Amino acid sequence: MEAALWTEKYRPRTLAEIRDQEEIVSRLKEFVKSRTMPHSLFAGPPGTGKTTAALCLARDLFGSIHGDVFMELNASDERGIDVVRTTVKQFAEYSTVSSAPFKILVLDEADNMTGDAQHALRRTMEKYTDTCRFVLCCNYSGRIIEPIQSRCALFRFTPLPQEEIIGYLEHIAKAEGLKVGSTTLKSVVEISEGDLRKAINTLQAASSVSKGFTEDTVYKVVGRAKPLDVHEMMSHALKGDFLKARDELRGLLVKYGLSGQEIVRQMHSEVFRLTIPEEKRISMIEAIGDADFRLVQGGDEEVQLSALLAKLSAGEA
Ligand SMILES: Nc1ncnc2c1ncn2[C@@H]1O[C@H](COP(=O)(O)OP(=O)(O)O)[C@@H](O)[C@H]1O
Ligand SMILES: [Mg+2]
Repeated sequence: MEAALWTEKYRPRTLAEIRDQEEIVSRLKEFVKSRTMPHSLFAGPPGTGKTTAALCLARDLFGSIHGDVFMELNASDERGIDVVRTTVKQFAEYSTVSSAPFKILVLDEADNMTGDAQHALRRTMEKYTDTCRFVLCCNYSGRIIEPIQSRCALFRFTPLPQEEIIGYLEHIAKAEGLKVGSTTLKSVVEISEGDLRKAINTLQAASSVSKGFTEDTVYKVVGRAKPLDVHEMMSHALKGDFLKARDELRGLLVKYGLSGQEIVRQMHSEVFRLTIPEEKRISMIEAIGDADFRLVQGGDEEVQLSALLAKLSAGEA
């Protein structure tokens, strides 16, 4: 049997289990208490709990999620006007036979819908307001047409703070019997940039290598170098030790199997963490930008990156 995805296994089942997003959760709990709600727009970056909140809201309202009162559609799989005209309409138009006061239709990734589809959706939303409430999830509310925005209550989801993500990962690690230290968990959190889905998926991928995996494994499964390794390579180059820096570069390319562009991207992030004069930082960013451009044009990875390190070593960038 395929191992269950931890993102599903540990997804909160009720609003009370959702982490952070306190203001949102308390507004949604009010909907449950009053057994009514407006059409809603859940906006925010990936992995912050939008889909989860919609599922929890429906479960708290209806007791369980069943097809008569709840439907979830992914607008990017089924964008286009036809879906709105058929599937959405069919679901929305019949009043429910259960005791639920209305149905809920969740449209995930609604900002991927075409303008035409959104206008059709708006008409459907208005027509069936008595029987059906819409929850539209999106990354950017600005991509939703104004007439829909003005008909929805807006909920802005924000990236989860690092401590929250660590707490969540510790909970999963304990439940799964992992033996990982706090530095390792921290590296998972840093990579995930506030996206809890990414954090959980990284944890699961690394744990499939070993239950006692280390930081190295974490960077390997996400195809990145350890920030410290990139930092050292750059520091050696800046100190004029080109040969050492080049050896470290080879290590990243060969041993870790990273792409040249990934290394350039990480060098770009590291520049901002080096303690160097501002003019130096600017010329390094330019040199890194040039290398990136040449790689995109099809330049050889080792040649271009060695040239970049040579420039840094010679104090030319
Ligand atoms: N605020 C949160 N509280 C608890 N779990 C969360 C939260 N945000 C995201 N998650 C977890 O991360 C994964 C992705 O969440 P999801 O709600 O699908 O994110 P999205 O905002 O992209 O719709 C799920 O496994 C979910 O359990
Ligand atoms: Mg989602």
